[in-house]
Amino acid sequence: MANLGSSRDGFTSKFGVIAAAAGSAIGLGNIWRFPYVLGNSGGGAFLLMYLFFIIAFGVPVMTSELLIGRKAQKNVFGAFKSLAPNRPWYLVGTMGVLAAFLILSFYSVVAGWTLEYVYLAITGSLSGTPDDINNIFDAFMGDNFWPYFWTIIFLFLSALIVLGGVKNGIEKYTKILMPLLFVLIIVLDIKALTLPGAGKGVDFLFNPDFTKINGGVILAAMGQAFFSLSIGMGVIATYGSYIPKSQDLGKTAVSVSLTDTLIAILAGIAIFPAVFAFGMEPDQGTGLVFKVLPNIFNQMTGGIVFSIMFFVLLTIAALTSSISLLEVIVAYLSEEFAIKRSHAIWATTLVVSFLAVLCVYSTKVFDNFDFFSSSVLLPLGGVLIVLFVGYVLKRSDVRAELEAHGKPVFWFNIFYFIVRYIAPIAILFVFLHGIGIV
Ligand code: TRP
Repeated sequence: MANLGSSRDGFTSKFGVIAAAAGSAIGLGNIWRFPYVLGNSGGGAFLLMYLFFIIAFGVPVMTSELLIGRKAQKNVFGAFKSLAPNRPWYLVGTMGVLAAFLILSFYSVVAGWTLEYVYLAITGSLSGTPDDINNIFDAFMGDNFWPYFWTIIFLFLSALIVLGGVKNGIEKYTKILMPLLFVLIIVLDIKALTLPGAGKGVDFLFNPDFTKINGGVILAAMGQAFFSLSIGMGVIATYGSYIPKSQDLGKTAVSVSLTDTLIAILAGIAIFPAVFAFGMEPDQGTGLVFKVLPNIFNQMTGGIVFSIMFFVLLTIAALTSSISLLEVIVAYLSEEFAIKRSHAIWATTLVVSFLAVLCVYSTKVFDNFDFFSSSVLLPLGGVLIVLFVGYVLKRSDVRAELEAHGKPVFWFNIFYFIVRYIAPIAILFVFLHGIGIV
């Protein structure tokens, strides 16, 4: 990812921005959060709703964010301030900063688990029966040192990357490493699908049981869609400001969303067949992926090598997401309050470390941070973003920005209708219904 806050020289290639935006989107949200929330929410019906939200709200909100950023050529605060001077729209950015603090806190905890699993994989400790694997995770969670240690290490790594402004570095590596992660997941899929008893997992994932649906599950599916696409808080707007005018924003939003969704589904195809093949339960909660995947590696020739590679790549995927979160806060502090970037980075890391420690200490804090950011702040941010595009910007300006690459976009009227009428009302309804108000 580029050093988004401090320079405006953009990305080296068209693929560079898509890679960076996909780097932000693809992360623990796809491989850890999607399967665990789906497993807790009854399976196939959740998947269907999730896909619906990606298409109906995810792509339009992402397109809206991209267009706000590219039109203003600024990060999210600057963008709202210059497009709507003297009006409080920049508060969307402020909400985004709050969300970034909360997400980064619990995200680092899970990334810390991933680091522990890199260590366990290297030392060959992820072996044994499914029960043993279960106990490894539970013992780790009960430990009073290592979960804190790895969380802090992860935050420190993120800070170092953002500090270095390693533009070319990250862009170059994600282009190679994310496709490699993709290939590894496919290998896992094949292995998982050929396990005896895998069919039940395929059924769980693809055969919807609508009796499992309630307001809470619908809200969880929407929150997961926002979380996984990194939308609703302005991160994507900042990426948009680096996209050349010659690029079709609608297409960009579709490619990023498709890639992100594909990875989540492929992760599900690895996990659920294995869950049932190993006689486990799908509703294990946050530990699901860590309790299931080692069992698949154990059944593979060269499993140790695969498991090391997998957890290393997952850590890198988590890093490319966490730096986008950290960058939001740092850009805010350094641009709005004229704090030096390096000071902003260390101050943020210190505060987030404290919040992350609370998340390790208490699963209640962890769950509340997770819920409040994904299911409250991101959807509300999304509503404000589409309202901004639908009612504050001029229709002709919106159209001009979406057609800046020189070709008419046939979907403009549908997009505009969704952004003005459907998305704001529907997102708000799902939100209020989910928390039991309507
Ligand atoms: N989308 C990332 C994931 O799936 C997490 C993430 C990174 C994020 N930046 C974000 C979520 C901004 C919401 C907003 O792992």
